[in-house]
Amino acid sequence: MSDDNIIPIGTQMPDMLSEAAPRLSLPVFEAGWVWLVGAGPGDPGLLTLHALHALRSADVVVYDALVDETVLEFANPRARLEYSGKRGGKPSPKQRDISAKLVELARKGLRVLRLKGGDPFVFGRGGEEALALVDAGIPFRIVPGVTAGIGGLGYAGIPVTHRDVNHAVTFITGHMAGGAVPENLDWPSIAKGSPVLVLYMALSHLATISDLLISNGRLASEPVALVRNATLASQEVLETTLGTAAADVAAVGFKAPAIIVIGEVVRLRQSLDWLGALEGRILKSDPLGTRSEKDVI
Ligand SMILES: C[S@@+](CC[C@H](N)C(=O)[O-])C[C@H]1O[C@@H](n2cnc3c(N)ncnc32)[C@H](O)[C@@H]1O
Repeated sequence: MSDDNIIPIGTQMPDMLSEAAPRLSLPVFEAGWVWLVGAGPGDPGLLTLHALHALRSADVVVYDALVDETVLEFANPRARLEYSGKRGGKPSPKQRDISAKLVELARKGLRVLRLKGGDPFVFGRGGEEALALVDAGIPFRIVPGVTAGIGGLGYAGIPVTHRDVNHAVTFITGHMAGGAVPENLDWPSIAKGSPVLVLYMALSHLATISDLLISNGRLASEPVALVRNATLASQEVLETTLGTAAADVAAVGFKAPAIIVIGEVVRLRQSLDWLGALEGRILKSDPLGTRSEKDVI
């Protein structure tokens, strides 16, 4: 890489939508439409250009608990910001009330931005809200976002796939709508069939889920990582094992929101913790001990 390609940390980048940048053909956010937009896991740099455009164009932004305030700062200053988050254990708006609000705002002729953490279609109820819009005859657009289970792990230096480890990955919610652990999932098949498991909303049920996986054949020594506030300055990572994860979480008081990954890909963090490296962590080579000269491309 030439020096020209190295951007020192803290350097101000040009505004990607400014006159000087190549022109992008972005869709017009029409009045009376609802855009269901993924805000990504937190770092505003992970917003898509469509999401940024939506934030700048919307009349009203109806946002979730996991949308970071630094993302909301990109909204049009004239836009009304309406919080409609659901928070475990606290009084939260009902899903049907949120959907009804989107319909009502769109019928008033507003440009309605429904902003959700991560990707709206990944454990985000975006599908339910979009179906309500269809029923009400409201035109809508979906803007996918970076999901925590991929982008959040990337910020911890953990790839969800690596060719020496896994050819499949399973995304699981650890929490049913009523709060219970999803015992109706086929845990024996999940334990046997997927070398890497990524768990959303699973912190409070980690002990039960670990037991289910171990009793269905996973090793207690299998590496596990939990990433809290992924991609934000407050990001924290706890590396543990399947057998000790729940106890370690309790011991250090690790709190939600956390994304959890189970599988050998966690070992790659020893080499790929790029954020840690910025703070001086020495990255190891060959963390899996599998690479030979001929494999290196
Ligand atoms: C209701 S789900 C929403 C998932 C979201 N739609 C996505 O694609 O990332 C909420 C869960 O996502 C995970 N999550 C979302 N953002 C996160 C973040 N910045 N750090 C860690 N976990 C996060 C946590 O497991 C949290 O409990």
